[in-house]
Amino acid sequence: MSDERERFLIRYSRGFAPFIVARASGAWLQTEDGQHILDFTSGQICSTIGHNHPRIVEAVQQSLEEVIHLNSWMLSQPVLELAERLASLLPASLNKVILVNTGGEANEIGLRIAKMHTGRFEVVGLTRSWHGLQTGTASLNLAGGHSGYGPLMPGSLTLPAPYAYRCPIRHCKGTCDCSCLDAGFDLIDKQSVGSLCAVIAEPVLSAGGVIVPPPEYFQRLRQLCEEHEMLLILDEAQTGFGRLGTMFGCEKLGFKPQAISVAKALSSAYLPIAAVMIPELTYEALLVESKKLGAFGHGFTYGGHPVSAAVAVKAIEIYQRDRIIEKAARRAPLFQARLKALGEHPLIGEARGLGLIGGLELVADKTSKRSFDAQHGVGAAARFARSEA
Ligand SMILES: Cc1ncc(COP(=O)(O)O)c(C=O)c1O
Repeated sequence: MSDERERFLIRYSRGFAPFIVARASGAWLQTEDGQHILDFTSGQICSTIGHNHPRIVEAVQQSLEEVIHLNSWMLSQPVLELAERLASLLPASLNKVILVNTGGEANEIGLRIAKMHTGRFEVVGLTRSWHGLQTGTASLNLAGGHSGYGPLMPGSLTLPAPYAYRCPIRHCKGTCDCSCLDAGFDLIDKQSVGSLCAVIAEPVLSAGGVIVPPPEYFQRLRQLCEEHEMLLILDEAQTGFGRLGTMFGCEKLGFKPQAISVAKALSSAYLPIAAVMIPELTYEALLVESKKLGAFGHGFTYGGHPVSAAVAVKAIEIYQRDRIIEKAARRAPLFQARLKALGEHPLIGEARGLGLIGGLELVADKTSKRSFDAQHGVGAAARFARSEA
């Protein structure tokens, strides 16, 4: 092992960054050896208002003086305030909130709610999606591999993603016409053991390569879910809180899901907090169901953590007072135009995105579309970029 820092740490990515961060401020990191680095990773795609924002630091300090941790069934004022704020920001139908810690956990709970609510268990995810690393969500994560981690959760089914650049059903030429959705549901009907429960989807498939579904995709998906009496859960971990130029991706897509999960930018990533929101009616049905089964079992050590909730309240206040969402919407056209211009580069097969999410698909050759990684090895792109710089 060449990296001395791994003596006691388990490595969970290809390698740790080749520096130790001493301070962070705004978009900048300062390393222990005095380098200043522009943090394009944005704290794992979520530091929407930059590192160490003074108003967030103040909110943390105040909260630390008031209450730090409680048993999760004891509520604090920031938790109540956050629940109310979230309910006021979302479509009126989604007014019941449960606060958890991470995006994966929120999605896991969304799936548990859907299972208890419908009494069924088959859940569907899109290829190229990423929903977290708990067993249920990981079984639906199709942006990464599954090999080596044992069996997937029974009842995990797959829909081909609307990935027009490499159409999964070899049908579309560059523009998705939703045939993959209809073909995918035909397969689901065939595979199902009669227990279809929910579909979980990202408004823009982000970690799996920034795949932007065509405008009619979610309307059609919602219709198919209704026909199959399935819930549609929207995972807004990446699209929530302004990244598409609207507070939530569902506004941009113009449709209302039956559940939404948010994470990451909920607290601008300062502290772990995530949430699932469902309609009052689903909640009432859940109460009936949970009495039959004993309980909707989801009390856990850090549920509705007071300090995280205080930070999330402050982050939302900053998004609103500083008009962060409007600014994102104003900047998006220029960002997308510049991004698309990069698509001319011989190693960029496609430049795609929506709002302030952008992705560049690297290829070894534009005509064959052979992927850059397949040709040069995973990680070669970063080495190439460093040598060009
Ligand atoms: C869309 C989406 N959902 C869920 C997750 C998982 O969130 P977490 O890492 O907080 O569990 C991620 C993480 O990148 C994500 O991009």
